[in-house]
Amino acid sequence: MITLNMGYKRLDPAYLFSNIAERVNQYEHSHPKAKIIKLGIGDVTEPLPDACIKALHKSVDEMASKKTFKGYGPEQGYPFLRDVIAEKDYQQRGANISSDEIFVSDGTKCDIANFQELFSNDIKIAVMDPVYPVYIDTNVMAGRTGVSYLGRFSSITYLECTPENNYMPDLPTSPVDLIYLCYPNNPTGQIITKKELEKWVQYAHENQALILYDAAYESFIQDPELPHSIYEIPDARRVAVEFRSFSKSAGFTGLRCAYTVVPDNCRAYGVNESSYTLRSFWNRRQTTKFNGVSYPVQCAAHAVYSDEGQSQVKSLIDYYLKNAAVIREAFLSMGYQCTGGDNSPYIWINVKTDSWTFFDSLLNKTGVVCTPGIGFGNCGKTFIRISAFNDYHAVLEAVERIKQSHDIILEDIEYQSKNKTY
Ligand code: MLT
Repeated sequence: MITLNMGYKRLDPAYLFSNIAERVNQYEHSHPKAKIIKLGIGDVTEPLPDACIKALHKSVDEMASKKTFKGYGPEQGYPFLRDVIAEKDYQQRGANISSDEIFVSDGTKCDIANFQELFSNDIKIAVMDPVYPVYIDTNVMAGRTGVSYLGRFSSITYLECTPENNYMPDLPTSPVDLIYLCYPNNPTGQIITKKELEKWVQYAHENQALILYDAAYESFIQDPELPHSIYEIPDARRVAVEFRSFSKSAGFTGLRCAYTVVPDNCRAYGVNESSYTLRSFWNRRQTTKFNGVSYPVQCAAHAVYSDEGQSQVKSLIDYYLKNAAVIREAFLSMGYQCTGGDNSPYIWINVKTDSWTFFDSLLNKTGVVCTPGIGFGNCGKTFIRISAFNDYHAVLEAVERIKQSHDIILEDIEYQSKNKTY
């Protein structure tokens, strides 16, 4: 008899962003003339940097000639890309990472989702709350999280991020083995200082734990004092794996390229506490299950590091940060507490009411899509996340609509809250 992995049954029936897309589709269907402005999922809207486009054209032409055609590439990525990543993203920032510790892939979401496969099912995991749902969902699929009650899984340690602790979680009070950290944070937009990050690295050393450090939004960091990589912290190499992406920096959400750094002295434990290098396990996993990123896409990623590419990426980041400032200012002027938006493309807004109710009212009264905070965990239940990834004029229009309809939105929320049947 074919039996199912019942881990999937413990999940919400739909992934957060699929659920939102479904609601937006229904709204579009019933309001065919509405001009919807999507500030929900963090998907870029600006075209690829010209340097990347040129590299794509050139490499596609290479594929057209027998002399320069490429078949399967190395599963870990072409050396030309791994070398430039190691040099420019790490060595130039004083982080001791070499190119053979870099694994090029088609996305941070997939890598961070897959990485948990390397660990046994009885490890204790810790996530921030609110959190990017992929960290939890993939552990649920693996059957590692226990039973769910009131939106929380019994075997997960939730590190609460609230206005009271300025969205900076405390260290776990009981030992955990695998810690997911994301900075700049998705969804709160909060950043981490070197001093704070040192505490986590020290914790990992003391507890023989591992940190999975999601730095997908690193390129939004503006403050020169902030760390871009966990490897800027001394001794982090032994206890941390880092995930980076070209999606949000160079607009590759539709092109697909990212990378994961697994230092060669980063370790995990087997029976009798014998230690093993994670790099060889990840390499084994990738060579078995992954055939690499296409040559043209890796050429495009390589072009990001040219002078032209760097300046074009900076323009993209500045563009989205200008949007973020508009959104943040608008919500502050309406009296909301907000975080993020200065070193991050996300603004986390305390709406002090049920987040799905706010989502529905905002969509129905203004046609603007946000992300309800509850989708990121219990600590998000009275928050929404607004993404700065959209056209500047669309963002201006969105905030204008929200300001104009603010009283109507609040009345609608009051009405919906009174008439809700739970
Ligand atoms: C988000 O909106 O949180 C991200 O776009 C999701 C992702 O990168 O997978």
